[in-house]
Amino acid sequence: MSSLSSHDSVSLDGTSKTPHKDPTDSSTNLIVQTNSLSLDDLKSRFLDSSLLTFATKTSGTMQSYNIELFKSSSLPSEVFDNCFDLLEANMSAAYKATSRGWNPRKKKEEMKHPAMRYLVLTTIPGGNDKTVGGAGFVGFLEFMITEEEGSDVIYTYELDILPAYQKLGLGKRLLDVAEEFGRRVGVEKAMLTVFDSNKGARRFYEREGYDLDEISPDPKVLRNGTIKPSTYHILSKAFWTDESGEEDGDESEDEGEDDD
Ligand SMILES: CC(C)(COP(=O)(O)OP(=O)(O)OC[C@H]1O[C@@H](n2cnc3c(N)ncnc32)[C@H](O)[C@@H]1OP(=O)(O)O)[C@@H](O)C(=O)NCCC(=O)NCCS
Repeated sequence: MSSLSSHDSVSLDGTSKTPHKDPTDSSTNLIVQTNSLSLDDLKSRFLDSSLLTFATKTSGTMQSYNIELFKSSSLPSEVFDNCFDLLEANMSAAYKATSRGWNPRKKKEEMKHPAMRYLVLTTIPGGNDKTVGGAGFVGFLEFMITEEEGSDVIYTYELDILPAYQKLGLGKRLLDVAEEFGRRVGVEKAMLTVFDSNKGARRFYEREGYDLDEISPDPKVLRNGTIKPSTYHILSKAFWTDESGEEDGDESEDEGEDDD
């Protein structure tokens, strides 16, 4: 997962390489207005507090967790380091296998973009805490409310859970919180990028209702007829089916909030 999307048309120093939009355009305004809100406003308006504190069985005992929203500018430096180190441990090999490679400096620059937002998952002390040094950090989801090919979207840049805490429903929980945030903001869909090599994550997202987006790069057909998949895919999940604002029906197929 990364910004390896058509997102690359917007450089992360804030200079847009895409045609400039009319500032009165309502789509642009939704993004500009949302990104200019204070952290307290973002929390009170767009977070579903019932999803933020929960408990789930971890190695046989109940463990309580908390999810906290940060702006890149408000993320404490030790938490930033936790996020970066986990991303590097989980994903740098997959990045290295692509033509872009793994560039820690550029990744850190992207992670510090002023519009980047973080959902940070920690254990609540007192449970079966296996975090390194009991520091509490378990994982994070990094996202931006942005525009992608003319649509207002919530774009998940990274989602990483510590290996010891994977497959407990925690990744799903972070994704649920981000999606609810996007719905409340009023964006059209949730988007993300997944490496072709990351089959487990692709299955995970498909189970969460994500499909290949229309802007996902097509596979290459080589001269000998062999089909070579792109090294990454862009997935999305629509929030609304039509102009009336009727919600996409895939929710009823979910297993629901059964991980508490
Ligand atoms: C991918 C990732 C974020 C998923 O988070 P998670 O907390 O492990 O996933 P959850 O427990 O919420 O998974 C929900 C479902 O997906 C399944 N699943 C999760 N990861 C899977 C994997 N690698 N292979 C197969 N199934 C997987 C779970 O078994 C679960 O299935 P269920 O609902 O039928 O029980 C996490 O495994 C991770 O951090 N992986 C390494 C980094 C990475 O690949 N990030 C994504 C980059 S695009």
